[in-house]
Amino acid sequence: MSEAVLKVQSLTKKIGKTVVVNNVDFTIKKNEIFGLLGPNGAGKTTIIRMITGLINRTGGSVMINGFDLDKDFEKAMSQLGAIVENPEFYKYMTGRKNLLHYARMSSSKISPERIDEVVKLVKLDHAIDKKVKTYSLGMRQRLGVAQAILHKPALLIFDEPTNGLDPQGIREFRDHLKLLASEGVGILISSHLLSEMQLMCDRFAIIEKGHLIYDEENSKAEEIVDAINEVVFTVSDVETAVNILKEEFTTSPILKQDQHIITLSATREETAAINSSFIKNNIAVYEINVTKKSLEDKFFEITEQEMRKSV
Ligand SMILES: Nc1ncnc2c1ncn2[C@@H]1O[C@H](COP(=O)(O)OP(=O)(O)OP(=O)(O)O)[C@@H](O)[C@H]1O
Ligand SMILES: [Mg+2]
Repeated sequence: MSEAVLKVQSLTKKIGKTVVVNNVDFTIKKNEIFGLLGPNGAGKTTIIRMITGLINRTGGSVMINGFDLDKDFEKAMSQLGAIVENPEFYKYMTGRKNLLHYARMSSSKISPERIDEVVKLVKLDHAIDKKVKTYSLGMRQRLGVAQAILHKPALLIFDEPTNGLDPQGIREFRDHLKLLASEGVGILISSHLLSEMQLMCDRFAIIEKGHLIYDEENSKAEEIVDAINEVVFTVSDVETAVNILKEEFTTSPILKQDQHIITLSATREETAAINSSFIKNNIAVYEINVTKKSLEDKFFEITEQEMRKSV
């Protein structure tokens, strides 16, 4: 069997006229914890919903442990365990009854012994015969993990799994993930927190506005993060230059300006176009300095924009 438990190629989703997920590629291997990092609205849940078959794709392909989601849907699904949004349980039933109920509905055969094994693994033994309505958020989440791994999937997917958990709960969840990965499972989790991804994942990719902008194993994504640079123009007439930028180059925001200097964010092509527009308008360009942004700078720039929008 192939080493890749998930292979996503050219994954695309259009909703109306908007491209919500744009040509996304990534691969997750056995034993690997892979994080999808991005601000609110970046497209994480949409990607996960397409992989888990909850919504249709507009384009692209998904292979789960070697099975094509289009050609072998049932087999692909049998390789997958997922928690998308909050797991739903019957609150007036015990944790065990919930798991038994789920096991009966599953297409794989799940023995009562397997349920005991999984309950031990997520450390719910002491509470499994209590009603779910008495569980804390962290306990419910562990029950969700138990349910997702019952049928021994090769790939596990969690969408924002630590939302609402306290630091202790987050730490426990992280330990569970590491244990599962060490046993051979490949794991995909999503989050909007860089620090969390760094602690939890072996590797992560950054998604912004539906594009994968960084993934250390995906050179296409690295080209995109490379493409946006901080560019410093030293010019003879800042005032006219700023007017030109505001009118003609709205996709290259001005970051700073003073007497002779304008700092902006632009791609290579935009930088060249800005330069020729300045010259056409009789502005002398004395110097152009390009600084490549670090990944962290880029990520904070993205999240800061999001924070500003939400205030
Ligand atoms: N059914 C829908 N109809 C219209 N727009 C949608 C729909 N589902 C998602 N979107 C849009 O797609 C974009 C991506 O949404 P998505 O839920 O995938 O983001 P996310 O990265 O999971 O964000 P969050 O961190 O808030 O969970 C958003 O702009 C959202 O408004
Ligand atoms: Mg989401």
